[in-house]
Amino acid sequence: MIVKNQTQLTEAVMEVMRTSGEDARFQEIMTALVKHLHAFVKEVKLTEKEFQLGVEQIIKMGQQCTDSHNEVVLMAGSLGVSQLVCLINNTDDVDGDTTANLLGPFWRDHTPPAENGSSIVRSDTPGETMFVKGTVTDEAGKPVPDARVDIWHSATNGLYEQQDENQAEMNLRGMFKTDEKGQFWFCSIKPSGYPIPTEGVAGQLLKRQNRQHFRPAHLHVLINKPGFKTQVTQVYVSDDPLLDRDPQFGVTERLVGDYVRHEEKSAEPHTSTPWWSLDYTFVLRPGDSALPRPPIK
Ligand SMILES: [Fe+2]
Repeated sequence: MIVKNQTQLTEAVMEVMRTSGEDARFQEIMTALVKHLHAFVKEVKLTEKEFQLGVEQIIKMGQQCTDSHNEVVLMAGSLGVSQLVCLINNTDDVDGDTTANLLGPFWRDHTPPAENGSSIVRSDTPGETMFVKGTVTDEAGKPVPDARVDIWHSATNGLYEQQDENQAEMNLRGMFKTDEKGQFWFCSIKPSGYPIPTEGVAGQLLKRQNRQHFRPAHLHVLINKPGFKTQVTQVYVSDDPLLDRDPQFGVTERLVGDYVRHEEKSAEPHTSTPWWSLDYTFVLRPGDSALPRPPIK
C-alpha cells in the first residue's frame, strides 16, 4: 500500500503486522505494538530530535548490559512494566492481588540447603536478629508440604553477598523445605534497602524526574513445587519509609509483611535487642514449576 497520510500509514503498518508470517500470537503482539506505538508518537507529536534521542537511549541501554548487569530490565522496572507483567500473569483479573513479585537481579541457583530453624547468617554480619516463619498454601488454603523455598536478602550495608568481599559465600541465603503444615522457618538479620544502579540510562531517567533511587528493604523468596507455578516474590519491610516510592514499583499492599519489633530479651541465643519476627503466608497457583534462569552465576 502506498500511503497518503498519517492515518493511512498506521493502518498500512498494522495490516502488514496482522498478516505477515504464520505465528498468530506474534501477529497479535506486533499489531498491538504498532497500534500503541503510533498512537504514542501522534499523542506527543514526537519531534525528529526527540526521536533521535530516544533511539540513542535504546542503543545505550544495550551497550550498558553485561553478564552481571541488565540495564533493559532495570528500565522495564523503572517504567513499571515488569510489575505489570507480574500482576497480569499471577492474578485472575485486574482487581486481583497476588503474593508473587519481581525476581530481581540477585537470585542464585544452588543455594545451600538449610534445616528449618537454622540461621542463614554465614559470617559475622551486623544487624538486628529476625525470625521468619513462612507458610505455603494452595489457592484453597491447603498447606503445600515439601516445597523448595529459596531465601536471599541484602545485609545491613545494602549489599548482597556476591557484591561484598566482607560477607561469606552464600551469606544470607538458604534453601529450605516446607514441612507437612506447609511451613518453613529460619533466623537471619533484618534486611535493608539499597540503591539501584544509577550510572546508566535508567538512572538518568530517575535523576531527571527527581525520583529517589533506593529500593525499600525486602526479603526475597522463591518457592518451587511440581504442580504449582514457581512463585518468585519479595516481602517488604513494613517500617521502611520508602515503601510508597520504590523506583521499581514492586511494592504491593499484599506484600508489605508485618515485621514485628520486639523489645524484650529473647531466650534464643545470638538474639539482638530489639529483634524482629515475620509471619507470612504465600499462596501458590497451579502452573509451570520451571525455575527461572538465574540472573547471575
Ligand atoms: Fe533485592
